[in-house]
Amino acid sequence: HPRPTKPPLKILLCSPRGFCAGVVRAIDAVERALAKFGPPVYVRHEIVHNRYVVESLKAKGAIFVEELDEIPNTNAPVIFSAHGVAKSVSAAAAGRGLLAIDATCPLVTKVHREAEIHRRRGRRVLLVGHSGHPEVVGTMGQLPDGAVVLVESVEDIDRLKLDDESNLAYVTQTTLSLDDSQEIVNALMRRFPKIIGPHKEDICYATTNRQAAVKEVAPHVAAVIVVGSPNSSNSQRLREVAERAGAPAQLVQGRGEIDWEIFGNISSLGITAGASAPEVLVEEIMDAFAERYDIVVETISSADENVSFPLPKELRAIA
Ligand code: F3S
Repeated sequence: HPRPTKPPLKILLCSPRGFCAGVVRAIDAVERALAKFGPPVYVRHEIVHNRYVVESLKAKGAIFVEELDEIPNTNAPVIFSAHGVAKSVSAAAAGRGLLAIDATCPLVTKVHREAEIHRRRGRRVLLVGHSGHPEVVGTMGQLPDGAVVLVESVEDIDRLKLDDESNLAYVTQTTLSLDDSQEIVNALMRRFPKIIGPHKEDICYATTNRQAAVKEVAPHVAAVIVVGSPNSSNSQRLREVAERAGAPAQLVQGRGEIDWEIFGNISSLGITAGASAPEVLVEEIMDAFAERYDIVVETISSADENVSFPLPKELRAIA
């Protein structure tokens, strides 16, 4: 019998996609800590927002907790996730004598320091970000309770009531949509013309490059798959950017979640992955398409990345 022929599918693979330098460092930190101290190693919050990564590290002896009070008194280290923590969390760990290893992305720490400097200079700090995201909780927690005002939308700015509007500064979450955040910053500058912003964007290079790549690809494909977890901010933004650029887009954690209603009858597909999504999941998704389609893959590269960060100092010494 002749084999049934599969329909053709052209896949445009966005580059850069997937792991950023902060995620690589945070995952390395957990693995190095396991090698250096032996299991268990506690990790406060998902080290990066990806189920696959978290499950793999659990299998190697990492124990994930949401708060420090879930950790027994122990000599085992506790690692803070890439998203960063409030000062109160570091203080609580020190107070309990826990060995804390901070895997906060250096680009998040940079925003923490900006917020502190503004406050030291007497400025009221506004944070542009998404309420409840751990990065936002951590950045707000760099300053005393109530000191940072969260702005989530242009409407929030219209509603803002501040005692003193003369001495303001803003910082942003690192994983926002560039277009949305530009709109919000423009609105801030319209209402508060003297507001002081970051020297250079707080949105990080990885967020910027991944959004640029998917924006370039989306107009040329019938649909886009973003590999990533639903609680991953930068992955959600990639899905929005793809949709705004005209392609229906789905965020999937693995091949089991692909919606074949959308992806079962197309002739071109864009694929990208959030900064916390491992490449193995991209490969798994391409395999799923290869079973149904005769695929041709082309990489569309819009930027080169060569960023890397040194490990947290507690883990640097070992080879
Ligand atoms: Fe850092 Fe940006 Fe990745 S802030 S963790 S490099 S998404």
